[in-house]
Amino acid sequence: MTHHGLFISFEGIDGAGKSTHITALAEAFRAEGRTVTLTREPGGTPLAEKLRTMVLNEAMDPLTESLLIFAARRDHLVTVIAPALLRGDVVLCDRFTDATFAYQGAGRGFDLKVLATLEQWVQSDEGLLGDPSGNAPMKPEVETVIEPHLTLWFDLSPEGAALRLAGARVPDKFESQPVEFFSRVAAGYAARQQGHPERFARIDADQPREAVWQAVRQVFVEKGWLSGVAGA
Ligand code: TYD
Repeated sequence: MTHHGLFISFEGIDGAGKSTHITALAEAFRAEGRTVTLTREPGGTPLAEKLRTMVLNEAMDPLTESLLIFAARRDHLVTVIAPALLRGDVVLCDRFTDATFAYQGAGRGFDLKVLATLEQWVQSDEGLLGDPSGNAPMKPEVETVIEPHLTLWFDLSPEGAALRLAGARVPDKFESQPVEFFSRVAAGYAARQQGHPERFARIDADQPREAVWQAVRQVFVEKGWLSGVAGA
């Protein structure tokens, strides 16, 4: 790798409460002198935000939905995430591809093999993070796929998440799904963790907010990515 950026994604079912912790982490990294790119999926670019509006508000079959989400992801990766990693930023991304496996795959029952193929196409590092001078090897030995260095999975029971969401705001297409949908999504996240145990850190989100924040901070301190002094 020719960059020193950090790519971190945040996952969990709707209502798991990841947002405040993402903001707090951005502050913690900035306090230690890092430049943070705070972004989200679907979205993060003008084009991808338009696709987000469609995906979250319009009914569509799951292949159409998956293609739009991966199109948004490609634009986001090429124009925001890869350049930020090359600059050495900490990229904090509210959801990434694990959400597609969990929501479109496990939640809506869409073919995981098709999603895996889209993942390979869209996240293939064809020089995106390579040597911009063009001096990188012509063909890397192994076809690399850009994925987060770390994924924080906020794990909360679907019933607990439903309680937190109730009355919070007007629900979007996914938030208005029944609790069974979120049980499938949660199982989808658990399966992704099993497939990528080295990348995943599971956070027990069924605790008071301060305890969740301490658990989040601890993950970064243990990895040596935060000093453990600020925000204790
Ligand atoms: P969310 O990240 O919870 O944002 P907000 O806090 O503004 O509601 O909402 C994004 C929604 O999009 C969420 O319901 C999950 C869904 N989603 C997918 O279905 N597939 C995906 O690949 C991604 C990234 C998100």
